Amino acid sequence: MEINEISDAELNNIDQWVQTSMHNDAVHGDILMRMPRLSDAAANVIYDRTKQVAGALVDYRELMMMYTCAMKEIQTKFEVLNSEFNVRYSRNPINSMSTRLKRTVSIVEKLARKGQAFTPENVERYLGDVAGVRVICSYVDDIYKIADSFVQQDDITLIERKDYIANPKENGYRSLHLIVKVPVFFADQKCEMKVEVQLRTIAMDFWASLEHQLKYKQEIPRQDEIVTELKACADAITAAENHMLSIRQEIEAFEDTPTEDDILLEKLSRFDIRID
Ligand code: GTP
Ligand code: MG
Repeated sequence: MEINEISDAELNNIDQWVQTSMHNDAVHGDILMRMPRLSDAAANVIYDRTKQVAGALVDYRELMMMYTCAMKEIQTKFEVLNSEFNVRYSRNPINSMSTRLKRTVSIVEKLARKGQAFTPENVERYLGDVAGVRVICSYVDDIYKIADSFVQQDDITLIERKDYIANPKENGYRSLHLIVKVPVFFADQKCEMKVEVQLRTIAMDFWASLEHQLKYKQEIPRQDEIVTELKACADAITAAENHMLSIRQEIEAFEDTPTEDDILLEKLSRFDIRID
């Protein structure tokens, strides 16, 4: 049974009832009392449509749960790399990590911009950034070390890599963006889920959050000057970061070449280090 098989008069009745029911002052009991008597055909169509909508909502919730699990998988991979690095070099390359699930309103907007309907299938097909993991490192070289080790893991498929560190955006934005697919094992299926990973340094993150604030303000006086000033801040941050990196490398290079005994002693001294 299709909607065009219901008479216009009956459709009008239903439509009017829906309109009045959605009114702010509508009283629940009244809504039911005023519900038009439906023909079997109309009742079936409405039942089918309701089932479709409810089904899509349930699928969508499930999909968001799956993206949340994919973020956990990715986060664990970076935690493992951080722990290994810590035990080997007594240094944490990862300063902090955060995850975010794209809000439904942003998902709807982005699909609309791409001319696609809001369905769970389209979310999976057309969006690569529903699940986001941000990894904040201390130094730029850590970003590449960590990203390379991550991407070469054999369950990770790299879909897209944008290096805004080697090629900063015009406004000064710098970060390494990866879109990957990771398998997630559920009770009776394995799903390859897309996750966007943004790797940046503490300083790059500091800059990006300030610049982000600017984007969401409507009418800022001196907008153009602020853009120029932010670009100057980005350049200053890049210079300071490179300087600090070269100092760190100089200190590391100066360390005496350890003997075998030194290495064993050093490892023993860190024997009880907390691995977390
Ligand atoms: P969208 O995913 O639609 O944004 O387009 P895209 O895929 O071309 O985006 P891109 O990979 O360049 O950036 C995706 C994300 O990186 C954004 O959602 C932001 O989190 C971040 N980002 C990119 N450019 C900027 C920027 O200029 N400033 C700030 N603060 N963040 C940015
Ligand atoms: Mg994107």
